[in-house]
Amino acid sequence: MKPKHFLDLSELDVSDLRQILDHAISYKNGMNVIGGMSPLAGKTLAMIFEKPSTRTRVSFEVGMVQLGGHPLVIMGDNSQLGRGETIADTARVLSRMVDGVMLRTDSHEKLMEMAHYCTVPVINALTDNSHPCQLMADIMTIEEHRGPIGGKVVTWIGDGNNMANSYVEAATRFGFELRLCCPDELMVDDHYLDWAANAGGNVSVVKDPKQAASGSDVIVTDTWVSMGDTDYDRRMELLTPYQVNADLMAQAENDALFLHCLPAHRNEEVTDEVIDGVNSVVWDEAENRLHAQKGVMVWSMM
Ligand code: CP
Ligand code: NVA
Repeated sequence: MKPKHFLDLSELDVSDLRQILDHAISYKNGMNVIGGMSPLAGKTLAMIFEKPSTRTRVSFEVGMVQLGGHPLVIMGDNSQLGRGETIADTARVLSRMVDGVMLRTDSHEKLMEMAHYCTVPVINALTDNSHPCQLMADIMTIEEHRGPIGGKVVTWIGDGNNMANSYVEAATRFGFELRLCCPDELMVDDHYLDWAANAGGNVSVVKDPKQAASGSDVIVTDTWVSMGDTDYDRRMELLTPYQVNADLMAQAENDALFLHCLPAHRNEEVTDEVIDGVNSVVWDEAENRLHAQKGVMVWSMM
């Protein structure tokens, strides 16, 4: 049987995504869902990090322990991967010893190669292209505060990066309207926009930040300089008009939520008054990584 990989929202049915979220909510409410107290007892998840992490590492590691399993952290540069052992060979070896592999890496191709060669489930914990685990926590957070996300207006402001790509996929899967407001040079790749258009997504590009924010139920941004980006000065120049500040939030609905996957670069992409303001739900969003991760792990590894 093909392993239940969690690679991208575009590859998953909304029924599976909903099941993961339902389980995440149950875990948050202290309820067991399937398999009793320790559904992953006796199972090991290899967690490979080729990039830094705080939330992802902690949420997977704590989540795995809470589910009764064993998390095994492998830092890329401290393993044979860092000395050139191929992803394919690593996948073959890990599949003989562990029950799941979580990978945070730079290139999406590496993730796909890992999934191709692994005979156990592979979970995408961020690549340069996407961050689907974060989206599960984001959707959970928005629904927790504002009810069903279907039909809501979500505006992405800033860099058209891996998070933005995953928002395009989430909008299409969960049925919300997504407005993308990014500098032309940093716009989401056409590949994602074309996929959304073909899959019936309601995703539009709006040039002006205030116009994009107007009437929005949710405003989301992310760092202007992602892990691996080197063009700091150019990005600052391009992205400064896209800062999420009180003026911008004032264009949105009065109760519009502010989300950010974190880590934030305060007073670059978002001002203190917004991230620390009453409409910011970033700490719930961070906490929900734990619950959402548990939903993902149980879905993949049970
Ligand atoms: N949001 C997120 O993935 O954070 P980390 O990089 O700390 O894991
Ligand atoms: N876009 C950011 C997300 C960090 C969680 C990055 O890739 O660095």
